[in-house]
Amino acid sequence: MPSHAVEDLWPAAGIRARAGDLELRWIDDDLLVDLARVAGRGIHDADRMPFATPWTRGTPDEVARSVLAYQWDVRSQVGSARWVLELGVLVDGVPVGVQGASAKEWSVLRSAETGSWLGKEHQGRGIGTRMRVLMLELLFDGLGAQEATSGAFADNPASAAVSRAVGYLDNGVLSHPREGAAVAHRNFLLPRERWLEVRERNLARLGADVELFGTERLRAVLDAS
Ligand SMILES: CC(C)(COP(=O)(O)OP(=O)(O)OC[C@H]1O[C@@H](n2cnc3c(N)ncnc32)[C@H](O)[C@@H]1OP(=O)(O)O)[C@@H](O)C(=O)NCCC(=O)NCCS
Repeated sequence: MPSHAVEDLWPAAGIRARAGDLELRWIDDDLLVDLARVAGRGIHDADRMPFATPWTRGTPDEVARSVLAYQWDVRSQVGSARWVLELGVLVDGVPVGVQGASAKEWSVLRSAETGSWLGKEHQGRGIGTRMRVLMLELLFDGLGAQEATSGAFADNPASAAVSRAVGYLDNGVLSHPREGAAVAHRNFLLPRERWLEVRERNLARLGADVELFGTERLRAVLDAS
């Protein structure tokens, strides 16, 4: 009898990373609705815009619908030429935000860019730093990354503070368009050798051993040339 587990057909759906109370997990439809509601309750103050696409403007339902539409769109984009892996962040089983990573030409470059958000009520408690560390362990140890990159608008100190605390190197500032204006955007780079230097002290932030699930099957998809 054929298996009914979605990850048997779509290995990305079996991806999970856990360290103590913190979990990153493939976003199925039940988790997606919870995360959409978290986003609808607010991610930042109205006079801020941390994202290049201003999907967080609108009513709570409009913002929640944007999360559904975006996640349904990227969920299918998991291949070796291009992949997007958006994982739900749960603390003690409670959905609090999304930690994503994406790459192009992975089998050649092995470079992934991360992006993330937390519901406003969950920010400023160290979760953003811990979820980045857990994603980096998944990328470097689980998927064999050679480098990770990140970026943030210059008026988003919290995101830049996460990158610097983890040990990324500053990698220049470029103007990016945002809501009709050119805005300074800082880039950060974490080469594998640097990660190996800072890995232990970062894993210590997690306060528990890391468990990765589903990486071998996903690698077979991403590494296919
Ligand atoms: C960016 C984000 C994921 C960080 O998560 P977080 O849980 O709030 O961050 P942490 O609690 O781990 O704190 C990270 C660092 O930011 C610092 N920080 C937080 N707010 C800050 C502020 N307004 N100014 C300066 N530093 C700030 C903290 O002191 C901490 O630095 P430290 O480790 O050197 O003490 C979260 O704030 C968020 O979702 N923001 C809105 C969406 C967003 O900006 N996404 C990223 C787009 S690039």
